[in-house]
Amino acid sequence: MGLVRTLRSVASFAVPTVSRHKRQIERAANISDLRAIAKRRLPHGIFDYIDGGAEDEITMRRNSAAFQQYEFMPRVLRNVSGIDTSTTFLGRTLESPIIFSPTGFTRIAHSQGELSVARVAAAHGLPYCLSTLSTRSIEEVAAVSTGPKWFQVYVWRDRALVKDMLARAQANGYEAIMLTVDTAVLGRRERDVRRGFTLPPKLGPGTIIDGITHPAWTWDFIRHEPITFSNITDPNGGPTNTAVSLSYYISEQFDPALSWDDLAWFRSHWNGPIILKGVQSVADAVLAQQHGIDAIAISNHGGRQLDSAPAPLDLLAPITQATNGSLPLICDGGIRRGSDIVKAIALGASVCTMGRSYLYGLGAGGEAGVEQALTMLTTDLERTMSLCGTRTLAEITPELLAHVPVGRQ
Ligand code: GLV
Repeated sequence: MGLVRTLRSVASFAVPTVSRHKRQIERAANISDLRAIAKRRLPHGIFDYIDGGAEDEITMRRNSAAFQQYEFMPRVLRNVSGIDTSTTFLGRTLESPIIFSPTGFTRIAHSQGELSVARVAAAHGLPYCLSTLSTRSIEEVAAVSTGPKWFQVYVWRDRALVKDMLARAQANGYEAIMLTVDTAVLGRRERDVRRGFTLPPKLGPGTIIDGITHPAWTWDFIRHEPITFSNITDPNGGPTNTAVSLSYYISEQFDPALSWDDLAWFRSHWNGPIILKGVQSVADAVLAQQHGIDAIAISNHGGRQLDSAPAPLDLLAPITQATNGSLPLICDGGIRRGSDIVKAIALGASVCTMGRSYLYGLGAGGEAGVEQALTMLTTDLERTMSLCGTRTLAEITPELLAHVPVGRQ
């Protein structure tokens, strides 16, 4: 009796949860664990589309590795009893410096797709940026989210189509546009080439076997309406729901002639902030500032476009300096931990994005997985700030970081 009482006083036992899958998700300790669960649950072609990058994936790996070049120089005895992770970005107060990146074809990870991501973002008052190539429409997302919404724009050869999407986004309360400028043509994602990956996923002998060996995903996929390019009503006769390779689709539809002169056209058709997504050099950041752009996302598209492009983290300090710290900077790429966010902020970012991080969560466990991915980043962020002796984001300054000597990285 005494022993039982003693055990009770020091141990508590978790009530067993019904589903093994749910238990796995709850036990995931970090984004990498969510990725591992998503890898088991998703068909290989789908997982590789999400997980992969361009060519040798040098840039994709480098995006994350760049964070390891820095270590913290923490301060102590700083009274960190009330950590405040809030910030103001483009006139909005956000509880954390986190933006949900646009991701194409989000429903391939889970049938709820963009709706799940938008709901989680809205519940935390964080901006969700819907992709032009989304599988839920501008209107469907607006119907489930009262949170801040942005719209990501790919520029179609058919400008009437772009104009129509901008008008729909504006009418549905989207607050800003992210104009993607790193996709004149599609990067060569060699995992997709090898797998013959198409969007929407096409059923063939290979995909059928893939489907049979991933029954949870397949059951979800076949019970829900087909995956289509939901925003594109009539892409100049192009396919909206026929299976095509993404590179074919983009080369047919996107306008490779896009240039700085086109920004005036966007100003005349969009009444709100314009963010350039995909700036990868100091010179272009300065040009963006000269063109009156409201913010830039320093981004190489998660390593999915130009391989051997620089890691966003490495560009933060030089861009901050060249733009006198007066151009709001989004660090987009490679963020897997709250400590990564602290490092990016120390080097000049205003906010950071999560893209693959929430997709791994979505693929692993639907909406609960997205929520969990966000919780991982936000709790990490608070803990890192506490351990660094920084109570607010304003206290996160370059002095908090030191370069890890080469050879120890
Ligand atoms: C779409 O934007 C992609 O990167 O696949």
